[in-house]
Amino acid sequence: MQNAGIAALGLDWRYAAFETRPEDLASAVEGARAMRFIGLNLTVPHKLLAVDLMDELDESARTWGAVNTVVYEGRSAAGDWHPLGQWPGDAVEEVRTRGFNTDADAIVRSLREDLACEPKGADILLLGAGGAGRVAALKLATEGVGRLWLINRTAAKAEQVAAEIREAHPEVEVAVGYPPAGVTADLILNATSLGLKEDDPSPLDETRFSPDRARAVYDMIYRPERTALLRTAQTAGCRTANGAGMLLWQGVKALEIWSGRTAPAEIMREALTEHLRTH
Ligand code: ATR
Repeated sequence: MQNAGIAALGLDWRYAAFETRPEDLASAVEGARAMRFIGLNLTVPHKLLAVDLMDELDESARTWGAVNTVVYEGRSAAGDWHPLGQWPGDAVEEVRTRGFNTDADAIVRSLREDLACEPKGADILLLGAGGAGRVAALKLATEGVGRLWLINRTAAKAEQVAAEIREAHPEVEVAVGYPPAGVTADLILNATSLGLKEDDPSPLDETRFSPDRARAVYDMIYRPERTALLRTAQTAGCRTANGAGMLLWQGVKALEIWSGRTAPAEIMREALTEHLRTH
């Protein structure tokens, strides 16, 4: 996806994956700085750890408390800073890191685009209160979600996220647990990791909330393509989407941050779809 976008922009960059242990993250970020990398994406389990490693944090990383996109910025002799991917040409005096978060916006963009689901005023059942679940809950609250029900295997974590929302968004009705009988949901959103393994059960307790009480179901997991949750949701007649759209939009935004240009989203989408189909 990124290499297709990079090529379409005519840039001489390459995007590569490096498996890094959490205890090596600081050296990896330093090594990339020394080698004049343009930027990095970080994924589990690095997103939270990276917050304290950055020289600067963009508002997005501060808001969501997690970094998934790093930009290396250079200082010119004149003293101004520019992303290395948009470097004007003179000597780089010094390089610093700036952390961004492009995940939160990607969730909402994908919900709108892939499910025609508008979070504003919606009643949403959110499964998961880990890193991804917390960001999703706070982002939905920022977007003006109507009512939000939070479910997590470890209920205390859901309580913590609910408390954070009550504090920052007192207008949002938030509860821990399944919606009461008779209440329907506009959306069930899975942000747990349950479903990543082919034989994982659904994270939804169907004895407490049956999928036919939801209009749409979104699973952040994109591999496997159809989790147990999405399969039962489809059978129940819900609109469904997996997390490929979220993956796409966080990547589109990252490429725009590195390059300072509009990223070719459709070309990136095609490359991603093809990759997911064949790998
Ligand atoms: P991420 O950054 O992907 O959100 P995480 O912070 O480790 O990763 O969160 C994983 C989420 O999946 C959590 O909500 C976790 O529940 P707990 O908070 O109780 O650990 C959930 N999860 C993982 N394995 C699960 C399982 N077997 N059953 C139910 N929930 C599970």
